Amino acid sequence: MNKRVEKVLNDQVEKEALSSQFYLAMASWAENKGLNGTAKFLYTHSDEERLHMLKLMKFVNERGGSAAVPGLKKPQEEFDSLENVFQLLLEHELLVTESINAIVDVCLQEKDYTTHNFIQWYVSEQLEEEALARTILDKIKLIGGDKAGLYMFDRDLENSTIQTPPSSGNAPGI
Ligand code: FEO
Repeated sequence: MNKRVEKVLNDQVEKEALSSQFYLAMASWAENKGLNGTAKFLYTHSDEERLHMLKLMKFVNERGGSAAVPGLKKPQEEFDSLENVFQLLLEHELLVTESINAIVDVCLQEKDYTTHNFIQWYVSEQLEEEALARTILDKIKLIGGDKAGLYMFDRDLENSTIQTPPSSGNAPGI
């Protein structure tokens, strides 16, 4: 496997692992605040980030590279509010999107069209994850300090009835 491509894919393995840890910390925070629907949503999201990591590792190894297992630093565990959680989640996803786009650039520069094809799945996934994070954040802002609204929001997240708007493609159900 092209060494430059292998390096950026292994860097992405680390970013997906960090995402999983970050969302796990958010899930635990929400659970301790009694926001069980939000916690369930975030635990599931954390699991999905781990699957994103594994998909990359398997691809690197199958293509003759060597997937590196990253060491992880402890994630932030305290959050100011529910809005703060989803604001940070959105900002984190925007960074991940930048990183995926940078991989696309490297694939084109190195003429690695197989990896370019593989990484398109992540390009689509980022579009959906960003849209969903924005939708959730908009709902939290609408709710403001309304306790009944917060209760319903948490219940909706538990039942996964909050999905991406139709214009942004199929709902990922993160
Ligand atoms: Fe795997 Fe949410 O980026």
